[in-house]
Order: sequence, then structure tokens, then C-alpha cells
Amino acid sequence: MILTPRHSLRRRLLGWLLISTAIIGTLALFDTWAEAVKTANAVSDRVLAGSALAIAERVVVAEDGSLEVDIPYVALEMLTSAAQDRVFYRVDGPPGSFITGYQSLPGIVLKPGQATAFEDAVFRGEPIRVAALQRSASTGISSVPFVVTVAETTVARRQLARAILLRSALRLAMMIAGAAVIVWIAVTMSLRPLSRLGSAIAERNPDDLQPIREDVPREVEGLVERFNSFMVRLSTAIEALRHFTGNASHQLRTPLAVIRTQLALVGRAATLEEAREAARKGDEAVARAERVLAQFLTLARLNAASSRETPPPARLDLLRLSQEITADHVPAAAAAGIDLGFEGEGAAPVTGEMLLLGELVKNLVENAIAYAGRGAEVTVRVASSSEGVRLEVEDNGPGIPPEKRVGVMQRFVRGERERAFGTGLGLPIVEEIAGLYGAAVTLEDGAGGRGLKVSVLFPTIPADDES
Ligand SMILES: Nc1ncnc2c1ncn2[C@@H]1O[C@H](COP(=O)(O)OP(=O)(O)O)[C@@H](O)[C@H]1O
Ligand SMILES: [Mg+2]
Repeated sequence: MILTPRHSLRRRLLGWLLISTAIIGTLALFDTWAEAVKTANAVSDRVLAGSALAIAERVVVAEDGSLEVDIPYVALEMLTSAAQDRVFYRVDGPPGSFITGYQSLPGIVLKPGQATAFEDAVFRGEPIRVAALQRSASTGISSVPFVVTVAETTVARRQLARAILLRSALRLAMMIAGAAVIVWIAVTMSLRPLSRLGSAIAERNPDDLQPIREDVPREVEGLVERFNSFMVRLSTAIEALRHFTGNASHQLRTPLAVIRTQLALVGRAATLEEAREAARKGDEAVARAERVLAQFLTLARLNAASSRETPPPARLDLLRLSQEITADHVPAAAAAGIDLGFEGEGAAPVTGEMLLLGELVKNLVENAIAYAGRGAEVTVRVASSSEGVRLEVEDNGPGIPPEKRVGVMQRFVRGERERAFGTGLGLPIVEEIAGLYGAAVTLEDGAGGRGLKVSVLFPTIPADDES
């Protein structure tokens, strides 16, 4: 994961906190609002019921059997004084007979036996709360039922509910702000070990690859561990590079020293013959230096080829390539008293880079010419079979004892008393190039247990690649 500069842990945490508390808070506020309305209603419903009762107590049966009521205005004032709300009432006798009050005030239809009921309604365009009380007045002989309805506009109760809601919202907002501050501080404090770690790394010497020993939170331990193991790998790689540079400069210094000596000899030569001889030796040393440089270049190209994402799928005929290289080396082989031959026919397709595969074959042929010894026979063989394409370079020289075969595959390792010029990079290069194309290198005895047979087995190219 790549952290863009705008990607901040702190902002993320704060964002999550704010979004979640906002959602939870909104739900809580809805709940609070419902509860506040319920509470406000419960409080003023009781007052409404009280005044309805006060009115009901003043209802009497007149001598003619009709109902009469003497409204106790105090009972209504009890309500109006509470707020800017207005109060309405009506009293109804037996069904259909209106006695007094606001005739247009909506009433509540009470079920038989129901004493009180409350309802929300609208009167004269204003929301009201209505309370109805069912009673009956008694004459001693018969009882006359009546209903007292008292209503009140809801300004006060709405104000109360709104005040409760506002307070809750305010409290919630303060809690969210407090939590945000706490998160801010907590994140800053939690990240402090990380910035300490950062500055510890920044202050380091570039070649100090010691593991990090900083005290870090447990969550970061894994990261530090991985970083440390990366440092170990890095220091191994750097060590290898140092080793290589040291060896490489040594390899180049040797031919350069020869060139310098021979140049000095040319200067001091008494005869043209002597000067020619020194020049020839100097020239040889230049050729060696060139070969060393060529091998370094091969290694560099190998590094580049192996770090490339997708190797270009180049297909070439290993048989023809090996045949050409063998032919190129016939004069050198003849000069060394070696009989160099080639076996193989048809085509042997492999995937690989021409320059690198050529270098592989060249290294093996040059080794055979250099080490097989005068009078030896060297055969280069390429054959294609069901197991793949096999390249063999076989000689009947002294060979390499089995216990040394692993060693010679390492960089800069040479035979003990090698007189032929070399760097010890030949076989390692062969193996690296082979590895690049999925081929395996094996060292065996030559025919009849004499000499050395190096064989490189390339995988068969998949059929769809052949088109
Ligand atoms: N065909 C061979 N016969 C005998 N010894 C060989 C042969 N090829 C390689 N070697 C031994 O393996 C060593 C390593 O070979 P190589 O990696 O090519 O390095 P270099 O040729 O520069 O010494 C050589 O020094 C030599 O001792
Ligand atoms: Mg060699």
C-alpha cells in the first residue's frame, strides 16, 4: 500500500469517529425528541385532566332535569398562566345536547365506560391537545351523563420538548468534540514512537545497517522486524558487492601490471626483436583485460536481464549458435594443440538472448581449450529430445575432481594450479545465464571416466510459443 501525503491516520480516525458518532447521535436525538414530547404531554395532560375535573365538579342537575354548569375560571387560568397557550372548553350533556363552551371545539368520542381520553387535534388553525372527561350528575333518582372537554394550544409543550432536544443535542456535540480532542491527543501520543523511530533511522550513518533496537508499540513490531530482516539482506548484498568489487579490481590489475612491465621493456629493448616480443606479451595482456571486462559486462547484463519484469520471448536455434561459436574457436584450439569438434544436426530451439547464450557456450569452449591440455579432444554437442535441448561440452583432459565441482561454480573460484589465464567467473556466469532461461547445469566425468563433461539442459519451449 502506498501512502499518499494526504493520507493521514489522524484524519482517518477522526473521520471515522465523527461519522459514527454523528449517525449514533442522530438516532439518539430522534429518541430523545420522542421521549421529550411524551414527557411534555404527560405533564400537561395531567393539568388538562385536572381542570376538566374541576369543571365536572361544578356540573349540577337543575330542577327541570337539565344540566347546569358554573365554570370555575380559576381552573382555566391555572392553565393559561403557564404559558402563552390558550385554553378552550365545552361541556356536553347526554348525546347531542351541547351545554356550554366552544361549540366548534373538536371533542373525543368516548367509549362506554371510558372515563378520560386525550387526543391531538387542530382548532382554529392551531395544534391543540384535547382532554375529555366523562361523568354523570345525579338527581338522586336518575343520573345524567355529561362530557367535559378541555383543550389547550401546544406552544408550551412544544417549547419544552424543543428545549429538552436542544440541551441533548448540545450535550452530544460537546461529547463528540471532547472525543475528537481525545483522539487527536491519543493519536499524537501513539505516533510519537514512530516519529522517534523515523528520526533514529534518519540520523543513521548510511553504512550502519545494524538492526533497529528502538522501543516501538506492539503494532509496529512486525514492521520493524521486517525492516530489520531487510537490513540483513541488504548488508549481505552490499558485502557481496564489496567482495566482488575487490576481486574485480584485482582481476583487472593483474593484466594492467603486465602491460606496464611490457611497455617498460619495450622502452628499454636493445633490439627490435626484444621490443617485438615485449609488445606481443603486452598485447596478450590487453586481450586478457578485454576478456575480464567482457565478463564483467556479461554479469551486469545478467543482472539487468534478471531484474527485468518480463524477459523478451526471443527464440533462437542453439544448435546453429553453438556451431558458429565452435567454428570461431577452431584456430585457438589448434594453437593449443586441441582437436575441437562439433556434433549435432537439425534445429534446437530455445528461448533466450543471443548475446548471453553465446557467452554461455563461449565460456565452456574456452575452458575446455584452456584446461584439457595439449593433445586432448573437445566435443561440442547439441541435441534436441523430448526432455528438452541439451548442450554438452566434453573433453578428455584432467577434468575436475567431484569434490571440487560445487566450488568451481562459485564466483572467483579457480583450480589450484591453473596456469591458463582466468578470473574464476566463467562457470558461475554459465550457471547464471542457464538459470535465467530455466536451464540446469551439471558437471560430470567425460567418456570413459576421463575429462569433464559440462551439460546444460534447456526446457522444451511450449507449443504456443513456437508460432
Ligand atoms: N574443462 C575443464 N577441465 C578441467 N578443469 C576445468 C575445466 N573447466 C573449468 N575447470 C576448472 O574450473 C575452474 C573455474 O573455471 P571458470 O569458472 O571458468 O574460471 P576460470 O576459467 O577463469 O578459472 C578453472 O580454474 C579450472 O580449474
Ligand atoms: Mg573459464
